[in-house]
Amino acid sequence: MTSNLDTDWTAHARRLADTLRNNGDLRSPLWHAAVSAVPRHLLVPRAYQQDDTGAWSQFETAAALERVYSPETLVTALETVGDKQFPISSSTKPDLMVRMLEILDVHNGQRVLEIGTGTGYNAALLTHRLGNEQVFSVDVDDDLVSLARKRLDAAGFRPTLVAVDGVHGLPEHAPFDRIIATCSVPAVPWEWAEQLAPDGTILVDLKLATSAGNLVHLRRTDDRLEGNFTTRWAAFMAMRTGTSPEPLAHADHAPGGRTRPTNAPATPWSEATVAWFLAHLRLPPGTSFGYDLDPDTRQPVATTFSAPDGSWARVSLTDRTVTETGDTPLWSEVEWAYEQWTAAGQPPWDRLGLTVAPDGTHQVWVDNPNSSHRWLLPAASK
Ligand SMILES: C[S@@+](CC[C@H](N)C(=O)[O-])C[C@H]1O[C@@H](n2cnc3c(N)ncnc32)[C@H](O)[C@@H]1O
Repeated sequence: MTSNLDTDWTAHARRLADTLRNNGDLRSPLWHAAVSAVPRHLLVPRAYQQDDTGAWSQFETAAALERVYSPETLVTALETVGDKQFPISSSTKPDLMVRMLEILDVHNGQRVLEIGTGTGYNAALLTHRLGNEQVFSVDVDDDLVSLARKRLDAAGFRPTLVAVDGVHGLPEHAPFDRIIATCSVPAVPWEWAEQLAPDGTILVDLKLATSAGNLVHLRRTDDRLEGNFTTRWAAFMAMRTGTSPEPLAHADHAPGGRTRPTNAPATPWSEATVAWFLAHLRLPPGTSFGYDLDPDTRQPVATTFSAPDGSWARVSLTDRTVTETGDTPLWSEVEWAYEQWTAAGQPPWDRLGLTVAPDGTHQVWVDNPNSSHRWLLPAASK
């Protein structure tokens, strides 16, 4: 017997596909069919939501179909660090997911590797489009892979899922025509390039630090990976590695410092995302950023930047001045990046490209790889 839920979700999934098409995120009828046919609520039976105080609580998605079949990220796993909880897995926003699938430009018969299985929703879309035999997906988290396998199977999708650290790809099933990563990386592993078929491509979020980078679409040639960043900015959760990242600096700092005028925007991570990316060619690992709030109104009055060595900068949101203390001139590095970006004509993301060489060298350039506006990424310049 067909329950109301069974019939309801198909109408919701269809409405989501229509919305994504009407918003211009989805163009291909094949992806429209996939979004219409994948039961997101079965792959994500429960999700977490955060209230105004930052506390997380769980909700059943079958009772929230409107929300599940909407362009909303659904957080599905949390990690507790100290007294705080942070998302470590989610079902990505469907609008971003289909934009990436459109960019990936898959064709019948092609083999795709996804790094970051999570809930399996994206693996289900790929499997609907290409078939069980063509889709491979890995996640570092055994429990997530087991759950995704069970739920995908129940929904009729049987891609190959493997619990493994995606930084090494999946060599035993290579070659792949496409690799899509749904977690961000600080550098593109050359092992992925080695597992690509000739002319294969990789779509991945390259982030040097929080918000510092964007999706990049790279094509394999004989001796390199090369391609452009995407027009629209996007952000994924960072790939988990065996080693702990540099701990983020604490915002406490010594008083004092010199105050001077500045021309760079106080919130580069939102006002000048390319410059914020370039700033991380020089900012020390573990630099944290945030806002100073007015104690009475709780409204932001300045942005702050702190480095692990205690260096600190405070940029006023009202009078375009900066106060810097410590040995590392944090704001001067942001100003350097803003000047570099401005000297290049303040190019948007899609005028930026990346070349990755087999020795791991990553070079970012404006318009073409031989441009006079080009920079080596820090991982490569060690
Ligand atoms: C945004 S979620 C992926 C969403 C997923 N594609 C979906 O459709 O639900 C990011 C995923 O990357 C996974 N991940 C993090 N580090 C990883 C690693 N080193 N190798 C493979 N997967 C990793 C996380 O466990 C998490 O499930």
